[in-house]
Amino acid sequence: MNKILVINGPNLNRLGVREPAVYGTDNLQNLEEKLQRAGRDHGVEVECVQSNHEGVIIDWIHEADEKFDGIMINPGAFTHYSYAIRDAIASISVPVIEVHISNVHAREEFRKLSHVSGKSTGSIFGLGLKGYELALEWFVATASK
Ligand code: DQA
Repeated sequence: MNKILVINGPNLNRLGVREPAVYGTDNLQNLEEKLQRAGRDHGVEVECVQSNHEGVIIDWIHEADEKFDGIMINPGAFTHYSYAIRDAIASISVPVIEVHISNVHAREEFRKLSHVSGKSTGSIFGLGLKGYELALEWFVATASK
């Protein structure tokens, strides 16, 4: 695995200012830089994108099937109601790790359902921004097998 795409969905551009008690005080740019640095240390190219628009995210997922070796995605609230993002993930063959910063199972009822988990290789939730780093570690470990 040489190239990993990190997709952050709606409202994740607000990291750092958005509900800091839930999502922490670090911003998206710092997270993306950290992931890119960690990738470089392991010889993996990490590209990071963020959008608040479902269709844009779906296009990125489709394109990634040709261009990337894996996807890490935090679909934000789309997780809980987007059949279209679920279907997009089902339509590709590269591994997908679903990441959530907060523990979605310990919050409101509507967050307990993920339409993405069933089509993902694995899911990480509740470990804060560290979850993204752990997902990257999995890609690196899988690459070296
Ligand atoms: C989130 C959890 C979602 O329920 C929420 O809508 C988000 C962020 C998380 O990272 O914990 O936007 O995906």
